[in-house]
Amino acid sequence: MKTLKGKPTGGLHGTLVVPGDKSISHRGIMLGAISEGTTKLSHFLTSADCLSTLAAFQQLGVPIERVGTNVTIQGVGLHGLHASGQPLDMGNSGTTTRLIMGLLAGQNFDTTLIGDQSLSKRPMRRVSEPLARMGATIETTDGHLPVTIKGRRLRATHYQLKVASAQVKSAMILAALQATEPSTLTELLPTRDHTERMLTAFGGQINTAADGVTITVQPQPHLFGQTMTVPGDMSSAAFFITAASLVPGSTITLKDVGLNKTRTGLLDILRRMGGKVTISTEPTNGEPIGDLTVQSADLKPIEIGKDDIPAVIDELPLVALLAAKANGVSRITGAEELRVKETDRISAIVTEFKKLGIAIEELPDGFVIDGRKPWRVTDPNLDAHDDHRIGMVLGIAALLVDTPVTLTGAESVGISYPAFFDDLDKLL
Ligand code: S3P
Repeated sequence: MKTLKGKPTGGLHGTLVVPGDKSISHRGIMLGAISEGTTKLSHFLTSADCLSTLAAFQQLGVPIERVGTNVTIQGVGLHGLHASGQPLDMGNSGTTTRLIMGLLAGQNFDTTLIGDQSLSKRPMRRVSEPLARMGATIETTDGHLPVTIKGRRLRATHYQLKVASAQVKSAMILAALQATEPSTLTELLPTRDHTERMLTAFGGQINTAADGVTITVQPQPHLFGQTMTVPGDMSSAAFFITAASLVPGSTITLKDVGLNKTRTGLLDILRRMGGKVTISTEPTNGEPIGDLTVQSADLKPIEIGKDDIPAVIDELPLVALLAAKANGVSRITGAEELRVKETDRISAIVTEFKKLGIAIEELPDGFVIDGRKPWRVTDPNLDAHDDHRIGMVLGIAALLVDTPVTLTGAESVGISYPAFFDDLDKLL
């Protein structure tokens, strides 16, 4: 349990480089592993989730070395992975699990995946069912982990995704690489496109049509190792962007943050709410990056719906916090995917925000929040619900209350941002 001090005496100030992007770190290991030659990643995210991916590929016979945030992968090629004698432990990581299911479905060996309690409750049929249409044999435990993947030759698919999920899309892409013919995948809404961009950089052939939602994947036996610097994680920067917006008298700068437009929904929402963010972009030939300067501001309420969700999916707890200080009633709908994250994030946010006296109403697919009502702590014992993003949003919310509160499960931040509380202290 961690004690959080409550309102700081001044605002947040200073400059910070946030850790590497979680989605890109996972994919860097995976694509490096199945490429030929060496892949070097710098600014790799050394959080529990990404270390689950790293360890899983070591177990599949890939030589990987890590020194701090520098990772070197000796790629074994698309057909060079070896069966692991033991089940692969996915820890808490949904991204590792779902992407590896797509990749291992097309290999010539069997693999069992296990995970922690939270991951073992998360739905896996959203991946196993579309993969089965390609000829994959994946046995789930009533739709959950443990999952056994019986690798075999896959056929092409032409598939309309049923959920707006980059994890499902990416699993299908990794399977389609190993199919006999080109595949097409059509998304409901555009989701993060890191797999597509990175696969192209590693020598894959993948095209997104002008509609922005239809992808064609060519089977590609040969990918080639790359050297890349992982951009700062927008989803980690988001906690400080929110804190600086809400704590009066703040001005902070966050350096080299990934600004892929499939990830920057929070910046658009904050702008619509009257937030003060300036962006200076840097020219790159890969993922867009830039520096963000954020100042505190008086915020207006917001309405967001289904189409806005994918670009802000991981930042919705923070949108709820911004709304809880805006000068009116905000409505967030179309976000039912939050119910199948590391915890049911709709229920967790409503439960914990009510302890702070926030006027929040639960909807099946979101929340209604009246930011005009003054907060009043009714229960100072906050709980992260074993979910890193809930832990961090409560860490920021605590900056807005007059009295200290406690946070159970604060260590869950290690899933995506082990140094979160240290970095927050640096800005305070
Ligand atoms: C991720 C996709 C999203 C996101 C998760 C990371 C990825 O999950 O919430 O944190 O790296 O592909 P869904 O695909 O379930 O939306």
